[in-house]
Amino acid sequence: MIFLLIKYSKRWSHRLSVRTVGFHPTKRGSIPLGTAKNMPRVAIIENIHQDGINLLKENPNFEFEIIEDISEENLIKVLPKFDACTLRVSKLNEKIMSNCKNLKVISRHGVGYDNVDLDFLKKNNITLLITATANAVAVAEHVIYMMLSISKSINQYDQEVRIGNFKKNASTIKTLELFNKEILIVGFGRIGQSLIKRCKGFEMKVTVFDPFVNKEVIEKFGGRKIENLDQGLKVCDYLSLHIPLTKETKNLIDYSKLQIMKKEAIIINTARGGIINENDLNKALNENKIFGAGLDVFEKEPVDKNNSLLTNKKVLLSPHSATFTNECKSRMSLETTKNIIDFFENKIDKSMIVKL
Ligand SMILES: NC(=O)c1ccc[n+]([C@@H]2O[C@H](COP(=O)([O-])OP(=O)(O)OC[C@H]3O[C@@H](n4cnc5c(N)ncnc54)[C@H](O)[C@@H]3O)[C@@H](O)[C@H]2O)c1
Repeated sequence: MIFLLIKYSKRWSHRLSVRTVGFHPTKRGSIPLGTAKNMPRVAIIENIHQDGINLLKENPNFEFEIIEDISEENLIKVLPKFDACTLRVSKLNEKIMSNCKNLKVISRHGVGYDNVDLDFLKKNNITLLITATANAVAVAEHVIYMMLSISKSINQYDQEVRIGNFKKNASTIKTLELFNKEILIVGFGRIGQSLIKRCKGFEMKVTVFDPFVNKEVIEKFGGRKIENLDQGLKVCDYLSLHIPLTKETKNLIDYSKLQIMKKEAIIINTARGGIINENDLNKALNENKIFGAGLDVFEKEPVDKNNSLLTNKKVLLSPHSATFTNECKSRMSLETTKNIIDFFENKIDKSMIVKL
């Protein structure tokens, strides 16, 4: 098997000229930063935007390598020498990490962390960081894009014009407005809060279901807190999910929930696959229980070719790409590598650390 390992090292003279910037008090052993022998080694697992790479390249206190082969076999082989790693979608399980005796910190390129074995991190005092401020706007804009695209039946209109039916079916294609409609935002964290601002711009009414955020915070954003999910599902025209995938939220939206929604309701999931049960969603759409759905995330990614949602015209799909704007890719890569630098320089912002 060919392992693709691209190595970037600083020149020796460069290493000798670096300053010592301190010791990080990690329980996994302190590292004197900036000394030639003990320079923290960072594994960039899966390539990231060049801006983040450049940040590490320009910092004389760190060494790094980009690891493109994310097979379990390769990660077991190459990761042990690293003190830190970045992580996109590849999975870091116990089998891979148990050999990584030097690993002190994992910096997620994103905010979700269902691809990491949290119990293992906790037991071994490995810190988990996220790009807390980088991606909320891009995801919130993606939700707006999906709500508008489905509401305006843009795929159908586009197709009609292309095949020469300029006016033939135009007036029979159903389209809807966001104005004055009710959106239920489930999960009022970074993305939920970014979304409400955009919904207000469209003069939508916003209800929020998040048992962990108090009423005053939601009202400050112009939303209305509801205590019971079903209460919101029954009346909403749009439902947008912004919660983590956990044991509690898996299959949160199943057939029984879809049945109580309005026939014209549109569901958007940019959070995590599995929060909506895909078979139930497909069934509800085919039975006209709801109007449409926009999905950026799936129970299994990449999506299986035989997933019945792929042939359902009432669904708008994107390949877990809500954060793939040029601006967001740059912000996320910068925050991912800056978090590692800040961690070793003992100045990491607390909001970037996941409480384990
Ligand atoms: N599609 C993408 O590319 C993409 C990008 C970024 C984030 N995400 C996903 O979006 C989701 C939200 O991200 P975020 O940055 O806003 O997270 P966040 O941690 O800032 O907010 C999550 C909110 O969900 C609430 N919550 C938790 N469990 C809940 C429950 N059972 N019911 C209602 N509310 C609940 C929490 O109180 C919190 O306010 C995550 O699942 C994340 O993985 C997807």
